[in-house]
Amino acid sequence: MRVLFIGDVVGSPGRRGLEKAMPGLRERHAPDLVIVNGENSAGGLGITEGTADELFAAGANVITTGNHVYKHREVYEYLDRSDRVIRPANYPHGNPGKGHTVVEVGGRPVAVVNLSGAVGLKVARSPFAEVDAVLKRLEGEADAVIVDFHAEVTSEKVAMGWHLDGRVGAVFGTHTHVPSADARVLPGGTAYISDAGMTGSRAGVIGVKREQALEAFLTQMPVRFETAEEDVWVMGAIVELGPSGLAESIEQVLVPAGD
Ligand SMILES: [Fe+2]
Ligand SMILES: [Fe+2]
Repeated sequence: MRVLFIGDVVGSPGRRGLEKAMPGLRERHAPDLVIVNGENSAGGLGITEGTADELFAAGANVITTGNHVYKHREVYEYLDRSDRVIRPANYPHGNPGKGHTVVEVGGRPVAVVNLSGAVGLKVARSPFAEVDAVLKRLEGEADAVIVDFHAEVTSEKVAMGWHLDGRVGAVFGTHTHVPSADARVLPGGTAYISDAGMTGSRAGVIGVKREQALEAFLTQMPVRFETAEEDVWVMGAIVELGPSGLAESIEQVLVPAGD
């Protein structure tokens, strides 16, 4: 089973880039399951039912999110309704949406779990204890488990990789938008990458127009951010899972998708 994971899609340039790159990615990698992080898909921050639909139309089977998931109020009811858009599991239990989902891939149940790091981000519970609880609930319900760990610091992400090594098929880091060069299969059989990167403009600063991001850094005053548009790349990773649900390989995906 081949799982294609796509890092945070940023705004309409990211959505258009994904749509444009997917036919080539399908041809090259023949994924059975496509997971897309959509937390920045609506105007660079948050997600709406409309942008989720666009990601699904581009080929996503499951959409994960992160700290910006609740930016747009109108998405709350959709998050409760959707089985294919998830938010970090370690948010307060009563919050809109759910933290994991099980989808059928070639007749086999595969679970996708979304978690948020606790370092530098707001969570209700430790992601480590949370994922233990989620995996316990999933016992006997899924042949493979894939985790999107949306976290700020690499130490917490690497630690999560080791925590889950041999227990899940893959741990994909998201949130920092800059792809890391550490993709590998850990000794216990878990594919791991600290950051899958983002799907959006490389001409900006992690998705924002660079002159605006620079002005904010230079003046330390509030600046209205807009999504950067040029030099769009699709970033992520492709993982091959064996019959046991553990990984046989992971390969980084970094492809230009400009006009
Ligand atoms: Fe993001
Ligand atoms: Fe984020």
